[in-house]
Amino acid sequence: MTNEHQLEELRAAALTDIAGAASLDDLERARVAHAGRKSAIAEILSGIGSLPKEQRGPVGKGANAVRAAIDAAIEERQGAIEAEELGSRLATDPTDVTLPGDAHPLGALHPITQVQRELEEILLGLGYRIADGPETPEIEDDFHNFDALNTPAGHPARSSSDTLYVEGHPGIALRPQTSPAQIRVMEREDPPVYVIHTGAVYRKDDVDATHSPMFHQIEGLAIDDGLTLGHLKGTLLHIARELVGDRESWFQAHFFPFTEPSIELYVEWTDRHGRQTSMELLGAGMVDPNVLRAVGYDPERYTGFAFGAGVDRLAMVRFGIPDLRLLYEGDLRVLEQFA
Ligand code: PHE
Repeated sequence: MTNEHQLEELRAAALTDIAGAASLDDLERARVAHAGRKSAIAEILSGIGSLPKEQRGPVGKGANAVRAAIDAAIEERQGAIEAEELGSRLATDPTDVTLPGDAHPLGALHPITQVQRELEEILLGLGYRIADGPETPEIEDDFHNFDALNTPAGHPARSSSDTLYVEGHPGIALRPQTSPAQIRVMEREDPPVYVIHTGAVYRKDDVDATHSPMFHQIEGLAIDDGLTLGHLKGTLLHIARELVGDRESWFQAHFFPFTEPSIELYVEWTDRHGRQTSMELLGAGMVDPNVLRAVGYDPERYTGFAFGAGVDRLAMVRFGIPDLRLLYEGDLRVLEQFA
């Protein structure tokens, strides 16, 4: 027969043990002894059903109260022990690996980089390789910037009012276009060649809403047996479709020293004021035989095409960015919109 006195004793014994537990292991032993499946209180609780009816209520109530008091004491003691253990660990080793770390806000790719990667994905999908690094320098000599690209002495692009030459190093300039990357690749490799290169280019332009002395281009080059203007147009239309969807696009004849014939690709575009307009996506053409000769390729055997697009311009159109300068000011209020 369980009486109040017995329950009180069970409770006092349990609370004494719990209060005396010096470690989590001690506490676990006390828990098993006083509140485990085989503890006296558990036995009382499971035996309630076989008690005479009139005892079930008071015994059950008393036993449950003791059980609750034991659980509460265990929980409280556990918190105290953990705090003590942490305190003594910190006294010897001040590194607390359990503390939450400093939150570093995650950045995002710059819109120019996003468009660059998108273009690269499209072209990698067509089997192009990315040329980059020391293979395609930004500081170039006259041969790679101009001579090998069939751009004769006296051409306006070669003047120091257009191109940024390195002071004290005649004939060395910051490349005004990514096209010298074509020459670099062809010097190192024999056909078939299918490469792209994206990077910074430099021109002596004043900064305004659509100009910057530094901007980015993506260059593509394909040299193989039997490549035709048809292959070039098919490739460019594929790029346009991937980039701008089902918009109307068309070619226009143009001139570049290093391609013949040369074309430009335009797409129909709705600007940010909702005005229907057109936008030049890129310049391209069949690689001029003089360029093939300059790198030691046989123009009787190989043909190919090249194209170059302004990445910043594409990013502006893509994201509806009205002013190029916004891309270069590093203003988080702008950049966070592209995360
Ligand atoms: N390099 C040219 C430009 O900067 C673009 C171009 C690249 C044209 C390749 C034809 C072939 O305008």
